[in-house]
Amino acid sequence: MTYQQYPHPTHGYPASGESQTAPVVAGWGDDRSASWDTPTAAWTTAPSRARVERPTSGEHLLDVRDLRVEFDTRDGVARVVNGISFHVDPGETLAILGESGSGKSVTAQAVLGILDTPPAVVRGGQVLYGGEDLLTMAPERRRQVRGQEIAMVFQDALSALNPVYPVGWQITEALRSRRGIAKADAKRRAVELMDLVRIPAAAQRVDDYPHQFSGGMRQRVMIAMALAMRPKLLIADEPTTALDVTVQAQIMDLLATLRAELEMALILITHDLGVVADVADRITVMYAGRVVEQADVHTLYGAPAHPYTRGLLASVPRLERRGQGLHSISGTPPNPIAIPQGCAFHPRCPYAQQMCRITEPTLLRIGRLDRASACHFPPEALDARHA
Ligand SMILES: Nc1ncnc2c1ncn2[C@@H]1O[C@H](COP(=O)(O)OP(=O)(O)OP(=O)(O)O)[C@@H](O)[C@H]1O
Ligand code: SF4
Ligand SMILES: [Mg+2]
Repeated sequence: MTYQQYPHPTHGYPASGESQTAPVVAGWGDDRSASWDTPTAAWTTAPSRARVERPTSGEHLLDVRDLRVEFDTRDGVARVVNGISFHVDPGETLAILGESGSGKSVTAQAVLGILDTPPAVVRGGQVLYGGEDLLTMAPERRRQVRGQEIAMVFQDALSALNPVYPVGWQITEALRSRRGIAKADAKRRAVELMDLVRIPAAAQRVDDYPHQFSGGMRQRVMIAMALAMRPKLLIADEPTTALDVTVQAQIMDLLATLRAELEMALILITHDLGVVADVADRITVMYAGRVVEQADVHTLYGAPAHPYTRGLLASVPRLERRGQGLHSISGTPPNPIAIPQGCAFHPRCPYAQQMCRITEPTLLRIGRLDRASACHFPPEALDARHA
């Protein structure tokens, strides 16, 4: 593990409407002439997959260690990911939580190897998948893992979908380009995947275009696309941000159901602690490109250790605190070009002491659980101070 034990417990401290006229397909790279009539090789609905090695027992499915990413900008070096470590086990759901700008998306992109370099520079760390380091493996191998084993759902489904292709065509793009499947099979598989993500009347809607779907349904299309290759790990980066509250809950339910049905692992990236409570097994909290707390979801909600997590929780509406009003964390997250010395959270922390301004806290284990906090003071000391 990358953290140590605290030395002592008290240490110092709608689917919208009907099909419309198809837009003209133009200027879209290799798939320009593609249509359902494109002749392709035979394919079965249960394809045999050339999989990379599965993790052996005792290994995590994904094990990110001390990942560091910087951006060279005109104003200086932006230290966006500063030694992040986390892991995901097969079939489990990890939520990565943090305010806007804390480095969540950059972390996900670095894991997938889709960062633009430059301006990004991966300064160090390991991204182990099945024991192999995605950061150093051959590009072809990385593409294989990325295509077949790890998939990603992006925040903005509308801009991620191509407006000039039918959704079914886009859902099966990876299957066609990587496997070469026959037209009828591709269409049938698209309908199956649309059914899987609970898009009503999938068979009738498979040839519809993205603009003919509601925001929630477009996000389902994105999820179907990500699931086409049956990944072992799905990374969903703020999959519900652009949606209204009811639809957010539906998409979260869907992701939880699919994770169980398909026995895949899920990384849910969000800035909203409220949306992951019922879905996540464990939570990793990020601040200024660092992990400040990690714990199982019940512990984190019931007894948050880090002052930042405490602040986030105080800003989430909860039934048991009805009538008490919500608190928000004062101040704003730091600019990654000028992260404060010591604890990056100290300018906003109600518990800050002199040492917090000087010394950066280490992520320390709390008790014997898989629970850790990067604060100079253990939770008991913080509680005592505010008692
Ligand atoms: N191409 C880039 N050049 C310079 N800085 C960048 C670049 N991409 C991202 N950053 C910076 O990295 C930081 C983290 O960005 P990131 O997108 O990972 O945040 P996030 O936690 O996903 O936030 P959000 O919740 O808003 O999506 C931000 O301060 C951002 O300005
Ligand atoms: S180390 Fe200090 S400033 Fe940082 S969270 Fe803990 S008490 Fe607050
Ligand atoms: Mg983001």
